[in-house]
Amino acid sequence: MGPRLRALLEFCPPHGPVADIGSGHGRLALELKRRNPGRQVLATEINPGPSAELRRLLGAESGVQILEGEGLRPVAGLGCRGVVIAGLGGLTIAQMLERDREIAQGLEWLGLQPAQRVARLQSWLQTAGWPLVDHRQVEEKGHLYQMFLVAPR
Ligand SMILES: C[S@@+](CC[C@H](N)C(=O)[O-])C[C@H]1O[C@@H](n2cnc3c(N)ncnc32)[C@H](O)[C@@H]1O
Repeated sequence: MGPRLRALLEFCPPHGPVADIGSGHGRLALELKRRNPGRQVLATEINPGPSAELRRLLGAESGVQILEGEGLRPVAGLGCRGVVIAGLGGLTIAQMLERDREIAQGLEWLGLQPAQRVARLQSWLQTAGWPLVDHRQVEEKGHLYQMFLVAPR
């Protein structure tokens, strides 16, 4: 796990059910579960190909619950306290939050780490009026990654 994902792990609140949206390789979800085996950890992927690959990578014994679907929809009504959305573009994240705003507003926190188009996401958050709780940046392989902890409302 590189500095970006390690920083995200330290950055996001450590308690309560959590979902890793667009989990990809699943390393963040796996480490969240490993650090706290009693915690409910969910990992989502957008469609059947990536979610099958995620299932294969994590294995049934990981204890991570894998869900399939677009954006925040797979976790609607499942009682997550927070979600992490990392490695997607800032515009994609902003569009996701706009579409799934009601679901997001049922969460206590969102840990957002846009891969690019950071300003686009910041501008969406500002317009939404969601308080910024924390901000951090971390360098990995010469790239400076931004992460934002926001409290939706
Ligand atoms: C670049 S990977 C990031 C993986 C991991 N989150 C990370 O930060 O290293 C982006 C992942 O998000 C998934 N994805 C893209 N759009 C999505 C959406 N609208 N809803 C859920 N997952 C999505 C892709 O299939 C891909 O696996």
